[in-house]
Amino acid sequence: MLNGKKIVLGVCGSIAAYKAATLVRLLVKAGAEVQVIMTADAVSFITPLTLSTLSKKPVLVNYFEPTTGVWNNHVELGLWADMFLIAPASANTLAKMANGQCDNLLTAAYLSAKCPVYFAPAMDLDMWRHPATLNNVQRLQSYGNILIQPGTGELASGLHGEGRMAEPEEIVDLLISAVNDTFPLKGKKIMVTAGPTHEAIDPVRFIGNHSSGKMGFAIAEELAKQGATVTLISGPSAQAVNHPGITRIDVTSAAEMLDACLTNFETVDACVMSAAVADYTPVEVATQKIKKQTDSFNIELKKTTDILRTLGERKSPGQVLIGFALETQNEEQNAVDKLRKKNLDLIILNSLNDAGAGFALDTNKITMIDKDLVYTTFDIKSKTEVAADICRELIKLMA
Ligand code: CTP
Repeated sequence: MLNGKKIVLGVCGSIAAYKAATLVRLLVKAGAEVQVIMTADAVSFITPLTLSTLSKKPVLVNYFEPTTGVWNNHVELGLWADMFLIAPASANTLAKMANGQCDNLLTAAYLSAKCPVYFAPAMDLDMWRHPATLNNVQRLQSYGNILIQPGTGELASGLHGEGRMAEPEEIVDLLISAVNDTFPLKGKKIMVTAGPTHEAIDPVRFIGNHSSGKMGFAIAEELAKQGATVTLISGPSAQAVNHPGITRIDVTSAAEMLDACLTNFETVDACVMSAAVADYTPVEVATQKIKKQTDSFNIELKKTTDILRTLGERKSPGQVLIGFALETQNEEQNAVDKLRKKNLDLIILNSLNDAGAGFALDTNKITMIDKDLVYTTFDIKSKTEVAADICRELIKLMA
């Protein structure tokens, strides 16, 4: 649990501030000592009285408290904390944090904190998607701060989409898994690829495949449950992320997936590459819709970069690389060739000849082949159970 952990909870001006009451209650119940710092705007959404009653500590808002004559020392607050959590984190506070601005007690205490910092954004869909916000989030991650991914659903504006603050229960689970040594992947960063890629032909058409992303998303969820911080790079997929320990990066093409993988690869301990990446992409993408004219029509294609092979060439000692092989013939030989060619530690073979294996299904049937050519064959299982098997094997490889 969070016994004895000192947590600064920063609450910003967002409608999701109402969730701060449940959050404080759950943190206290888990054994944490909670010091709430609110921004001036947060006070309009939920009263300090509510949060101070639940946290059993006066809530701090200003550097100087005129009623008591007390000066709140931001440096002491920053150093006192074992964990610093900002939830809800508004776009404005994220921007200040990313730029080192400290015009209020919360952002000044943040700048003084030496402990792990978690932030749970809450804002409207368009604010969340704005390049300025995305840049700020990336910058905070580059400082080592941990994003608690917002959820998708109905937003206070009436719009539907991403931007909802993660639920208090999920946030507390994440903090517990971060401090709890019994989670085998605690402190590990893992990158997962999932889904298909779409290679544009013209503004309305693309070359794609039937991958649904179900396997990769199930793997990401399982790794996060085991305590890992997961970066999930997904091609177009209708799957949703549930665990707040997963940061989702959406891409469309093989080239975009390559870029996202290269950006993240150096800092991760392991990769599980389950995406069905296009092997070929059109040489030219028409800028206008191609009109139907001739009876036959050819599209010239060029090879995409093999992302997994590129990572295999760059792999540093200690990094674990797991790939997939979806085969229809010579399954085992093809999988072993890929294992060798791509410098993998493990390859997960699924054969389309096995009933219950393949795209879009909720089940899969796999054989794992490791570097020493040890084969482990599993029964047909749900993709969640298959993800747990893969996760167990990864934990062994990382030990
Ligand atoms: N892969 C990749 N980048 C590509 C193609 C494949 O990272 N451009 C990865 C997949 O994510 C998977 C593994 O390589 O983990 C094997 O993919 P697969 O499509 O089975 O094999 P290919 O190497 O593309 O070979 P082929 O299509 O000829 O079977």
